[in-house]
Amino acid sequence: MNFFKLLSFLFLICFFSNNAFSADGKKLFTKCKACHNVDAEKNKVGPHLVGIVGRKAASAAGYTKYSKALKESGIVWDEANLDKWLTNPKGMYPGTKMIYPGLKSADDRAALIEYLKTK
Ligand code: HEC
Repeated sequence: MNFFKLLSFLFLICFFSNNAFSADGKKLFTKCKACHNVDAEKNKVGPHLVGIVGRKAASAAGYTKYSKALKESGIVWDEANLDKWLTNPKGMYPGTKMIYPGLKSADDRAALIEYLKTK
């Protein structure tokens, strides 16, 4: 019986640590790199994402191509909003200029947001 408990305990640890570490935010950001800078406040096709977690939407200095939808959103990019955005940008703001289908995996989105928090 005890052996069984130990086994299930080990199984749970493996299960959760695997979930927590399997998605790599830095690697996932390669999907965004073509359009976004995260290491320097330089805009590309998209606005730079330095300090994006906690930043007001449509507020990157010098970026002039924001859609009306994002400019009028009035939101702050907290984790919940980023999660919604990264699931489906057009679903959140149909008028957005960000052409990206979205990240379907919740683990991937969480890992990517964790990575963005460090920037
Ligand atoms: C094909 C280019 C492209 C790709 C790929 C792309 N984006 Fe974007 N992104 C944009 C554009 C353009 C905007 C401005 C959208 C608007 O104004 O409607 C934007 C806006 C954003 C914003 C809002 C920024 C602000 O200042 O309010 C965030 C956050 C963001 N993108 C994150 C990401 C992440 C994370 C990825 C990778 C999963 C990604 N984007 C992939 C082009 C892209």
